[in-house]
Amino acid sequence: MKKHLLSMACAITVLSACGPKVPQLGKSSLDDVIAAMTLEEKAHLVVGTGMAGFSGDSAVIGETRNLVPGAAGTTYPIERLGIPAVVLADGPAGLRINPTRDGDSATYYCTHFPIGTLLASTWNQDLVENVGKAIGNEVLEYGADVLLAPALNIHRNPLCGRNFEYYSEDPVVSGKIAAAYVRGVQSNGVGTSIKHFAVNNQETNRMANDAQVSPRALREIYLKGFEIAVKESQPWTVMSSYNYVNGTYTSENKELQTTVLRDEWGFKGMVMTDWFGGKDAIAQMEAGNDMLQPGLPKQYEAIVKGVQEGKLDEAVLNRNVKRILEMILQTPHFKGYKFSNKPNLKAHAAVTRQSATEGMVLLKNDGEVLPLASGVNKVALFGCTSYDFIAGGTGSGNVNRAYTVSLLDGLKNAGYSVDEGLKNVYEQYLTAEKERLAQTKKEWFMPDSRPAEMALTASAIQEQASKSDVALITLGRTSGEFLDRQQADFNLSKEEQALLQGVCKAFHAAGKKVVVVLNIGGVIETASWKAQPDAILCAWQAGQEGGNSVADVLSGKASPSGKLPMTFPVKFEDAASSDNFPIDMKANIDLVNKGEKKNEVKNVDYTRYEEDIYVGYRYFDSFGKQVSYPFGYGLSYTTFEYANPAVKQDDGLLTVTVEVKNTGKFAGKEVVQLYAAAPNSAKMNKPEKELKAFAKTRELKPGETAVVTLQVKAADLASYDEASASWVVDGGTYKLLIGASSRDIKAELSADVAALTQKTNNVLKLRESITTLKR
Ligand code: BGC
Repeated sequence: MKKHLLSMACAITVLSACGPKVPQLGKSSLDDVIAAMTLEEKAHLVVGTGMAGFSGDSAVIGETRNLVPGAAGTTYPIERLGIPAVVLADGPAGLRINPTRDGDSATYYCTHFPIGTLLASTWNQDLVENVGKAIGNEVLEYGADVLLAPALNIHRNPLCGRNFEYYSEDPVVSGKIAAAYVRGVQSNGVGTSIKHFAVNNQETNRMANDAQVSPRALREIYLKGFEIAVKESQPWTVMSSYNYVNGTYTSENKELQTTVLRDEWGFKGMVMTDWFGGKDAIAQMEAGNDMLQPGLPKQYEAIVKGVQEGKLDEAVLNRNVKRILEMILQTPHFKGYKFSNKPNLKAHAAVTRQSATEGMVLLKNDGEVLPLASGVNKVALFGCTSYDFIAGGTGSGNVNRAYTVSLLDGLKNAGYSVDEGLKNVYEQYLTAEKERLAQTKKEWFMPDSRPAEMALTASAIQEQASKSDVALITLGRTSGEFLDRQQADFNLSKEEQALLQGVCKAFHAAGKKVVVVLNIGGVIETASWKAQPDAILCAWQAGQEGGNSVADVLSGKASPSGKLPMTFPVKFEDAASSDNFPIDMKANIDLVNKGEKKNEVKNVDYTRYEEDIYVGYRYFDSFGKQVSYPFGYGLSYTTFEYANPAVKQDDGLLTVTVEVKNTGKFAGKEVVQLYAAAPNSAKMNKPEKELKAFAKTRELKPGETAVVTLQVKAADLASYDEASASWVVDGGTYKLLIGASSRDIKAELSADVAALTQKTNNVLKLRESITTLKR
């Protein structure tokens, strides 16, 4: 002990004798650290370390890659200044890292939580915060620092390939759910990156598409969710998107990354690019896009040369470096956290199982077929997906999980018996088809092709109808980044239609019921076939415990309380954006890739957001269009009554209260939505109604009542007026509509609101005007 103390004393003496020559991060001021950095070190720090398989900084790439194998990126370490590399890893449904490592027998599986769309379908901010807590714990315990999530782009069109990662067609739902997620993850002392900022609403040509959007639609629809998330949860970082907005790459757009994000909203963190996003490193630096990920040597060179040649002010570089250092200072790596590599996966499996049930949306339940009655035990399980359940989408939104509970397993775990003969037929078909599909070339990171639905003979179905108590049919869809979905993916295939018809006919003739389970990541067509089955449960992609979660709902262990965060249109073309969305564009994309049609192809090179603010229910409800299932819709096993609605206004805050009573036989939770409708005298073109707040009750027992409180600031009733570049509240009497969905308004209140104007910067303007939809 004495010897030890002695050597420590010597070390201290040596240090003070030489003096702390080189400033150290965390010990010296940030300005001193930055002053001590060479230009090359600064350029390295803002560029990142590269990515395996792409040229990066080979000197450090191997070393930092090994920090957490499979993580998407790292920052550049500068040891002499005490700046460690910190680890950035995907993604929205849980941490995405490699599950195994060379020469290591341990495993590093992460929990696959439900997809973003399912989380939004819970409309439960506490639940989402809790899921975020569990995800953030895995980030911490596996040694990562910043989670590249949540993703909150707007569901502009049902066919966007990444809608599963995103939340909603409505910015208030997107923003509030994202904020809850960020609070949960960051409560672990790790960071988040809200993405993709902004207007990344299609995957087709995502790295070069110019989204042409009016400032009003930007402010009210595409930026609003980010604004809410920034203000309500202070994410450590923001990830800029790949696309252009009104002619400028978002990562090179100072108006977006500085004027709006920082000056107007007060964002204090760091902005990073999406992976390989943007072109001009100097413009990105100037825009306030502090870090370029994963980093390329040519970006590093451009920055060094830019400063040397006077094209990039070193003060700009210093500013960006400072923001990165401020982020690093907060990280577990910097703080020397001793991560365990052993998060409590069992506890997290319970979190995902429970949260998934709450985001499932019961679309139909005729004759109260669900929950399955106690005498119903023998299940005929149809549809390939029942046996090959989809936990989530592909690409960076995927998670390397240890297992996926199929519906087959979930039902068995819940004590149901499943016809083994039918199971064997499906499993043999799936094995053979998967082997066949594995032979066909799949491009890197692209979604896997799934086997087509299996055809069954009428007699095979008949046999099941005579010996089973009930039929379950699962319809599945998967998608992921790089690709938008095709119309064929929206509609049911011929094989699926045949299966549905055959099963419904045979089972109904035998006096038995049919339940359809939708294991999907995005909206599909339901209008043409929804009359056939008795019940439809939209289970979304419910994470690794999916089968158990569905069984919990089917059996009545949990009453579904999810509601749709988007509209299910009758036909795909009904969405107002469908005229301006890349639909089945393969041929055109090939031409663009060959360079034969540069900057010419509508919806590939550029996309005009002509529907403007009329996205989702704002369009369907304002223009009186029929829908298959409206925004905010979802059934429960119980029923609710709304009573005694009231509103009071105090200092610019409207507080609405309503009593919600469980009038049915099951315990359940209800999602209450508050929409506002502007006075007819309003000068601006306004949607018929807009969601302004929502809340979910606790679980109410039969007969129990809860008072739900919903608050909205009068200022939040504003629309964006381009002429004056201001948020404007037209004075007058606003209707406040309390709804169980956008088309099931339970109570109407009104409030007199004074006119209000709030100036903004006049930025993000269209280069050329576009025709926009008006009511
Ligand atoms: C995705 C991002 C992701 C990044 C890193 C990109 O392809 O668009 O969402 O975070 O890759 O994996």
